[in-house]
Amino acid sequence: MNSKEMNKENNVIAITGASSGIGEATALLLAKPQVKLALIARRVDKLKALAAQVELLGAEALVIEMDVVDRKQVEKGFETIFSKWGQIDVLINNAGIMPVSYMDKLKVDEWDRMIDVNLKGLLYCIASVLPHMKQQGSGHIVNISSVAGRKVWPGFAVYNATKFGVTALSEAMRMELTPTMNIKVTVVEPGAVATELTHTITDQDVLDSFAKRGGGMVPLESVDIAKAIEYAISQPDHVNVAEVLVMPRTQM
Ligand SMILES: NC(=O)c1ccc[n+]([C@@H]2O[C@H](COP(=O)([O-])OP(=O)(O)OC[C@H]3O[C@@H](n4cnc5c(N)ncnc54)[C@H](OP(=O)(O)O)[C@@H]3O)[C@@H](O)[C@H]2O)c1
Repeated sequence: MNSKEMNKENNVIAITGASSGIGEATALLLAKPQVKLALIARRVDKLKALAAQVELLGAEALVIEMDVVDRKQVEKGFETIFSKWGQIDVLINNAGIMPVSYMDKLKVDEWDRMIDVNLKGLLYCIASVLPHMKQQGSGHIVNISSVAGRKVWPGFAVYNATKFGVTALSEAMRMELTPTMNIKVTVVEPGAVATELTHTITDQDVLDSFAKRGGGMVPLESVDIAKAIEYAISQPDHVNVAEVLVMPRTQM
């Protein structure tokens, strides 16, 4: 790793949604001596097990129990990180859910929840790090969007809306923050990755449509996205990786 932030002695990286999937794989890939990893999610048992693995790899770890929907919990969690390590160099804004459904099922509670976690939760985390990054004169915010932030499918309408939102937000953030404040912004857009993300889907018709459509498609592994994140945060000072779309070779 050779960027300014990755060379700092105090290399503090906060990862939301670190208890499984892409967030967990990213923590394991980035774990090495001199790296300090704040591992953030609701399932503390999983975070504690991950922290033990991360420490075996030579990094320091801090477990933060946080529901990103709860603004007070978000503020408190990031304050805990700042009071322990004094800074956050990289925020990997990864927590997300995907209880997709057809619109006429009117699963309004699930629509609310996707907007709350994927958009509002991501914004609360940004609000917690931005003043500090501005003050320290450097930082990097990596927002995890999706190919669903570029393409729409029936059944994905509200998830699409949240991820189109994350992609749009990221580019506007980059324009506001990167050239003048030295806060880099990257949006990472994974195609299908084999994780727990589909476990919250309750619409059987959507699940049946996946079964029909997915034949022969080999999904990405979480580490494939972790490598894209590592690439984005390892660039020299003058480079900002604005957007990375990573698709399974066999996904349309
Ligand atoms: N898998 C894919 O195919 C795919 C494709 C494109 C984009 N993505 C995006 O990648 C990101 C990571 O997803 P994943 O695939 O790795 O799925 P995952 O294994 O289900 O991970 C989701 C993570 O988000 C956390 N999370 C969910 N709700 C939260 C909340 N309210 N507060 C705090 N943390 C919360 C979960 O932790 P707790 O449950 O412990 O809180 C978990 O660590 C998401 O933003 C997703 O939209 C995934």
